[in-house]
Amino acid sequence: MTRFTRWLADRAAAREEAGLTRRLFASDAVPGDGPMIDLAGNDYLGLSRHPRVIAGAIAAAERYGAGAGASRLVTGTLTVHEDLERDLAAFTGFPAALVLSTGYHANLAAVSALTDNDTLIVSDAHVHASMIDACRLSRGAVQVVPHNDVGAVERFLAGRTQPRAIVLVETVYSVLGDAAPVAELADVCARHDALLVADEAHALGVCGIDGRGLLHEAGLSGEDHVVATLTLSKSLGSQGGAVLATPAVRDHLVNTARPFIYDTGLAPAAAGAARAALGVIGDEPERVARVREVARALAKAGGVPEADGAVLAIAMPGPLEAVAAVAAAAERGVRIGCFRPPSTPDGISRLRLTAHAQLTDSEVDHAVAVVGGLLR
Ligand SMILES: Cc1ncc(COP(=O)(O)O)c(C=O)c1O
Repeated sequence: MTRFTRWLADRAAAREEAGLTRRLFASDAVPGDGPMIDLAGNDYLGLSRHPRVIAGAIAAAERYGAGAGASRLVTGTLTVHEDLERDLAAFTGFPAALVLSTGYHANLAAVSALTDNDTLIVSDAHVHASMIDACRLSRGAVQVVPHNDVGAVERFLAGRTQPRAIVLVETVYSVLGDAAPVAELADVCARHDALLVADEAHALGVCGIDGRGLLHEAGLSGEDHVVATLTLSKSLGSQGGAVLATPAVRDHLVNTARPFIYDTGLAPAAAGAARAALGVIGDEPERVARVREVARALAKAGGVPEADGAVLAIAMPGPLEAVAAVAAAAERGVRIGCFRPPSTPDGISRLRLTAHAQLTDSEVDHAVAVVGGLLR
């Protein structure tokens, strides 16, 4: 055994003993298809299999091919990217959008390009791994603040020595499912000449007026001091990411953001699908209302407060109990998720339930009975 293979084996044994081993299960069963009720995935509106969304993907692949073929700055900017950027900006109320190949890239690009040695980064303790990695890529000093603590954000902004500062939050948190106080945060940022970068991954299509997000609802889209990032892979049922901001920020990213410049453009099929999904949400806003209705029913069953979006978190005593609850639910035909350390910033293992608009009333009733039973 080399030192390296021994290290791998030791790490694997420690994970196993702590109940933290993760395994990939490949399956032909598509979420939402077949007997399992899906309360684990992020396709909140059920659009990944919507005929219009699939048709959008096919039409774009037929027109442009399977791949964009190059970085957006070389030959990889296609009209479908520009059309999607226009549609995303119109939907969320921002003046400009830049599409990237994942939501992960969107956060890496926004944070790394909008900061330098002279920037303080104030980050909520619960931001997504992509924002944490973005901080590592950036050259700014990073200050982590307790979750949703606007007072702490203000203290660090007020006491900084750097000329510039940015504040990183999610508008709806992916693990806890709660919303950020976006209006207060934007106000603090405005008063201290800082930029708010808010990840709308779990709010787009679910929160705000007809799913346009929480920044739009708070009247903040288009403000100079507010930037949104988002993913096309959750409620839009596709793949990809975007940064929404002013044209000046977009130009800056096009010219300086390495995760944008050195990455092949988003696959045409993903862009075509995301555009079609935005069209479906616009035409069928009742999907947005339905996902919130299902979230309310699940929250009641789980004995937790109403969710701000589609994600519900139920704390468990430990990772082993969380994994056992997931298995018990699966035996009764309900797939739920679970977050264990290191995916949880506070070390608490949680069941993660996600509401889905496409569930029928009888599926919701069954899911509610299973979730209620698990926690009794
Ligand atoms: C809050 C948040 N931001 C960013 C991402 C990354 O998005 P993508 O899957 O498109 O890379 C995710 C999840 O995947 C997320 O939950």
